[in-house]
Amino acid sequence: MRIPLPLLTSHPGGRSAMTCRYRCGDACFHEVPNTSANEYAGDVIARALSRRSVLRAGAVVGAAAAVGGGVPGSGGAVSAAAADKGGKHGHPGKHGKHGKPAKGLRFAPVAPNTADKVTVPEGYGQNVVIRWGEPILRGAPAFDPKRQSAKAQAGQFGYNNDFLTLLPLESHDGGRRGGGADQLLVANHEYTNEELMFAGYDPENPTREQVEIAWAAHGLSVVAVAGERRTGALRAVPRHPLNRRITATTPFEVTGPAAGSPLLRTKADPRGRRVLGTLNNCSGGTTPWGTVLSGEENFNQYFANADKVTDPERAATLKRYGVTGGASQRRWERFDDRFDLTKEPNEVHRFGWVIEVDPYDPDSAPRKHTALGRFKHEAAQPRLTPDGHAVVYMGDDERFDYFYKFVSKRTVRRGKSAEDRRHNMALLDEGTLYVAKLTGDSPAGQIDGAGTLPEDGEFDGTGRWIPLASGDRSFVEGMTAEEVYIFTRLAADRAGATKMDRPEDIEPSPRTGRVYVALTNNTDRGKAGKAGPDEANPRKANKHGQVLEFAERGDDPRSLRFSWRLFLVCGDPEDPGTYFGGFPKDQVSPISCPDNVTFDPYGNLWLSTDGNQLGSHDGLFGVAVAGPRRGEVRQFLTVPTGAETCGPLVQDRRVLVSVQHPGEVDGASVEKPASAWPDGPGTYVRPSVVAVWPKDGSGVGR
Ligand code: FEO
Ligand code: CA
Ligand code: CA
Ligand code: CA
Repeated sequence: MRIPLPLLTSHPGGRSAMTCRYRCGDACFHEVPNTSANEYAGDVIARALSRRSVLRAGAVVGAAAAVGGGVPGSGGAVSAAAADKGGKHGHPGKHGKHGKPAKGLRFAPVAPNTADKVTVPEGYGQNVVIRWGEPILRGAPAFDPKRQSAKAQAGQFGYNNDFLTLLPLESHDGGRRGGGADQLLVANHEYTNEELMFAGYDPENPTREQVEIAWAAHGLSVVAVAGERRTGALRAVPRHPLNRRITATTPFEVTGPAAGSPLLRTKADPRGRRVLGTLNNCSGGTTPWGTVLSGEENFNQYFANADKVTDPERAATLKRYGVTGGASQRRWERFDDRFDLTKEPNEVHRFGWVIEVDPYDPDSAPRKHTALGRFKHEAAQPRLTPDGHAVVYMGDDERFDYFYKFVSKRTVRRGKSAEDRRHNMALLDEGTLYVAKLTGDSPAGQIDGAGTLPEDGEFDGTGRWIPLASGDRSFVEGMTAEEVYIFTRLAADRAGATKMDRPEDIEPSPRTGRVYVALTNNTDRGKAGKAGPDEANPRKANKHGQVLEFAERGDDPRSLRFSWRLFLVCGDPEDPGTYFGGFPKDQVSPISCPDNVTFDPYGNLWLSTDGNQLGSHDGLFGVAVAGPRRGEVRQFLTVPTGAETCGPLVQDRRVLVSVQHPGEVDGASVEKPASAWPDGPGTYVRPSVVAVWPKDGSGVGR
């Protein structure tokens, strides 16, 4: 069955300029920040850093054997492909016309469409769990868009929900199950769009109240939820004692090896250990010890006056992080000096981290983990090795940037005491940070830039993890460990990491241990002066992205070697340059711009998209990664006009998604909305969390 593409609409896919402006600070319209030639010497940044370094690196990059028990010999890496039945090129049974989709994916796929609603498969119901502005804390008022205040917003659900996770309520909260609550929902609030929040908003002249509302609408929400027994519907439980708002002004503790660094000290925090707030929290992860990680992504856009920084070293590091220009998009620098680089030079170094929140302790200070490096963190989903070390995979979402992993030095404690919890929340403070370097196994001449498979039938190869720093020891010549953590992009440039097509969410399959990397797109690939196609990023002007699958050598997450291949090369299945794990291309849903990654209880991979370039609204897709249906992409839902699908969570009886930035279409405003979702014409468009469930009470996709 061919799943038809819809006719193009007036917004032919892709993100609106408005989303680019508010979400990423127009990242894609600026020069690519990674201008490094990799393994270069002598550019201004490298020179600057070597001059400043007080502690010379202990080892040269590439001396990987120094850490983690030695580098395995070359060759012999277990091929992820070979681990499949049928060997590298065999996909037995895949072309069979009969048989059902994989368990968990047995629903009628939603066709690509541009409907201004959440479109779900036939037989599925849905409900809005919580909307921007709904009160969650005691004393917070009901949402009144015409009478917004910072005080109200600080007690209400924030704007533009992204990452979502659900945690069990009874195990940690001493039985506080008020209001029928049975789970705890944690949501990121990535960014604000003032033009859709405030009637008559003047971007040149925001008021203090508008700015303070935006500060309060950023961050995270913790909110108890109650499931309805007979359906999969979920409702928020306001005023639950564990409900919490974390905002752009909540105090955070800086932890790990760079805490206290002179590069992190400010007038307000001369010790460099206490930061106010978190910004641009995109996706995240749930730790095995019951806390939540969240990535600070496009933090660069909040800082003003980079163009007035004259010191070449500083200017170079700012540029590498995309901190450029004069006034910031939201003009926050007018209301708080810390957003003005000329007044508070180090504040910008205090964002771009992975944060950890203990949702079971509403009074605890969340942490910024410096050991995980500073870049545009998309997400962080940890796994445990069999002996209990925590391993975190992380993408740096920028064209031509890298992906990383962190391996903890210490091991997790399984107990539930306060001491065990303290121990576990410090796990990510000590360990080794690595960056990925990939090598293809086909001759470069066979990578034609159009997506044509090389002669061996796959985009595949091997990779290694290059250590960057461990504790106070740097492995990057000319950079101290502190500098490696704070200027991780520069360290990875020098390490010769592989420039990827926007690494977003990265997650290991809980079933197979294989790891999946969503690479959203990179329309600059192959442009003059930029990196050309390689086997892991095989298409020039890559509009649709790809999903890379890798297996750590010996299935050991601490390994320094891995094998990889492209699992999906996304786009219109009729485009010969697409690939769906070898599954017949006329039987898959078209998918474009994969972003977030999760797994269902059966081990199927689910992908949400950001910026569909095929004329459809963004969506959520399930795909089998093993068995005869491997590569069969099936679309589960689409989101309303202007929205992005985020935060997917796929449970046995329910799918949860963030509908982020609905109505975010160029030219839209409160007065001229582009969407009427979720509450219909005449109401404010509101980012919201949606639950979807099978109406017959069975499981999702069964
Ligand atoms: Fe916030 Fe990389 O998406
Ligand atoms: Ca190959
Ligand atoms: Ca994302
Ligand atoms: Ca994820």
